[in-house]
Parts: sequence; structure tokens; C-alpha cells
Amino acid sequence: MNSQEYINLEDKYGAHNYHPLDVVIDHGKGVWVWDVEGKKYLDFLSAYSAVNQGHCHPKIISALTEQAQKLTLTSRAFYNSVLGEYEKFITEYFGYDKVLPMNTGVEGGETAIKLARKWAYSVKGIEKNKAKVIFAEGNFWGRTLAAVSSSTDPDCYEGFGPYMPGFEIIPYNNLQALEKALEDSTVCAFMVEPIQGEAGVVVPAQGYLKKAYDLCTEKNVLFIADEVQTGLCRTGKMLACDHENVKPDILILGKALSGGAMPVSAVLADDDIMLTIKPGQHGSTFGGNPLAGKVGIAALKVLKEEKLAENAEKLGDYFRQEMQKIVDELDIVTLVRGKGLLNAIVIKPTKTGKIAWDVCVEFKEMGLLAKPTHGDIIRFAPPLIITKDEIDWAIDTIKNVLMKFEEENIPVQA
Ligand SMILES: Cc1ncc(COP(=O)(O)O)c(C=O)c1O
Repeated sequence: MNSQEYINLEDKYGAHNYHPLDVVIDHGKGVWVWDVEGKKYLDFLSAYSAVNQGHCHPKIISALTEQAQKLTLTSRAFYNSVLGEYEKFITEYFGYDKVLPMNTGVEGGETAIKLARKWAYSVKGIEKNKAKVIFAEGNFWGRTLAAVSSSTDPDCYEGFGPYMPGFEIIPYNNLQALEKALEDSTVCAFMVEPIQGEAGVVVPAQGYLKKAYDLCTEKNVLFIADEVQTGLCRTGKMLACDHENVKPDILILGKALSGGAMPVSAVLADDDIMLTIKPGQHGSTFGGNPLAGKVGIAALKVLKEEKLAENAEKLGDYFRQEMQKIVDELDIVTLVRGKGLLNAIVIKPTKTGKIAWDVCVEFKEMGLLAKPTHGDIIRFAPPLIITKDEIDWAIDTIKNVLMKFEEENIPVQA
């Protein structure tokens, strides 16, 4: 079958809840993927930062295939011979007493909020069913009803009401708003992305996270960091919170916790929070399965062995510097922002109405895969194993496409 036939199949038999670029990927290795016709592309999205370690990392795949032949799932009705090893490994790795293993990122978010509510009633002493969780405008943590209830993006929440009570939304990167919201003694937690990924790589002011954490601590409110996208070396440190030496009360990880091999998420916290949930009060058939445990350990080891935080920091700085030159030179691109290898550029609409989507189509033609978000923003998040030569190739490609695009499509002046 050719690409078009695969696309037609998905279109006919799959729900229309995504709008992919017209490329049908068949296999991948490292930073590269190939379509069904054999054309090679540099993956500049990494499955929304799940493939930080690169596609099909040999150590992760070998952990996966070895364990897959031995034992894949027991459920938590029984103990298994991997879970304890994984729990010890990941808690020591991040410095928490306990971990609660789940599968997807959104389940991690749900788990964190359930923990915060339990803690609110059993430790903080908030009146039953009155606990509030604060979120920031522009947040994205998945598609469940709780996640869409905290969303400010109409595409996410419109048509899915009624919404979850007990959620309050304040502006992102705004400490006064947080301080005011924290005056309410029924607030039990503030859940926040250290950099808002889906919102278009929105980086808060330096010092925001630390001050937000301190304000929460002062008011006995849990600081929950959603590091599903920003964590695991993506921003140039193991966690984005590390940039400000903040240790979240509850840490949510996902995506690259498996290097993209399978859904693996985790919530980390200390005993005073984690032990508020008792047997039977939370769980998941697949959470903590031995396959995920072995894959998780391998994925975390690769991050340190291959110094991916250092590489993300170094090449990220270089990438933004080179992008800034393009921003200075061309009208069509207005700014570059980001941290480490989580970056974005903003494209100006053109007189012919063409915006970021068309630029991404051109990138794809040239062999670079990236995806627009919110119409005018293009996120750049390659696997963190990328080399200087590969980044240089990407920079040249991005520049050539943007130059050609600007020549053919006059940008609308602000
Ligand atoms: C910050 C953040 N949290 C949570 C999620 C949800 O993860 P998942 O799609 O695995 O449920 C995402 C997904 O993009 C995310 O970016």
C-alpha cells in the first residue's frame, strides 16, 4: 500500500479526532523516521517529547523484548518480580519516598489531583468535598473530563460539560493572581507546567516557579509539577523545576519515561502525601506492570548514560541563537522561545492566508517533521540524542523553507 491508501484507511475507519500531516511513518531509528515510500525525515517533534531517547533506542527495546518474553502483566492483584525494583530505582532517582505507577500522562494528572484531595481532607483538614485545586490558563494535561474541566482552550472543553467542580483557573506566570487565589483556605494544590508545552512553549519569567512554590508552602498548599512534557532532560535539566531548584510536592512524569516504547507514567511524592491513598482507593490494571517497570528503568538510565540533559542544554542554546538570526532577518517569523530542546517559533499570517500549517507542509517536503499548534506556532522538539551536524541540517532546512515561504507569501504587517 502507498501513503495515500494508509491515509484513506484511517480516514474511513478511525474517529476524526486528529488532523495529522500527510506523512505515513513506517519505521524509525534515533532521530530519523522513514515513510512507507522510504523517504527519510528528521523527527522534530519526538511524539510530543515522548521519544527523548530517540526512536527504538536499542537498550530500551532490548529491555522491552526481554521482559516481554518473560512476563508482561499480573495486575496489582499479585506482586510481580519487577515492580519493587522499578519503584526503588525511580524513587531514588528523583529523591521521593514513594511512586504511584500509571500509564498515560493524563492518568498521572488525575492521580496527582486525587492525592491532593485525599491529603486535603485527611491531613490539611479541609471540609469534606470542599477542596479546590488551582490551575493556570493555557494549561494542557490531557483529554479526560477532569483535564478538559481545567482547560481554557475551547477546542478542549467545548461540548463536554458539565465540568468538574473544585477547580479554579488563574493566569499563568502571574504571582499576584496566585497569591490572591491562595488566600482561600480550601485550596489544597496548585498544578502547573514549568513551561506550557501545548500552549506553544510558553516560558514563565525566571523565578516564577520558585516563588510560586514558596507561596504554596507558606499556605500549606501542595505544589504539583506536571513535568510530563518538560521533564526527563527535555529543557536541559533532568526536570524543568531543577532550573529553579524547586522540588515539587507531587511530581508527574510520563511520555519519555518509556522513551516512547509504551505508555508509562508515574506520580512521585513523599509518604505524608502518598500514604493518604489506601488499598482499593486508586489503581489501574496496567499501572506498575513488569514490562513498564523494565522499560522505565532502561529509559531513565539512558538519560544519564548519554548525558541528554547536557546535550539538550548545549544544542538548545545554539538552536535558539541560530533561530534568532532567522527571526532578525525574515518578516515571516516573529519570535523564537524555549528552553533546552523544547522550542517554538511564531509565524506571521500572510496575505494569502497561509500560516504555520503550510510552513510545516513545506518542512515535511524537505524532510523535517514538525507540527503547528494554535494556528501560528511551530514547536521544535527533536529527540535529545540529536547531534550538532543534525541540528545544523535542521537549521538550514528551516531557514531555506522560511526564506522560500516569505518570497512567495507576503506576510501581513502587524
Ligand atoms: C504537560 C502535559 N501533561 C499531560 C499530558 C497528557 O499526556 P498523555 O497524552 O500521555 O495522557 C500531556 C500531553 O501532551 C502534556 O503535554
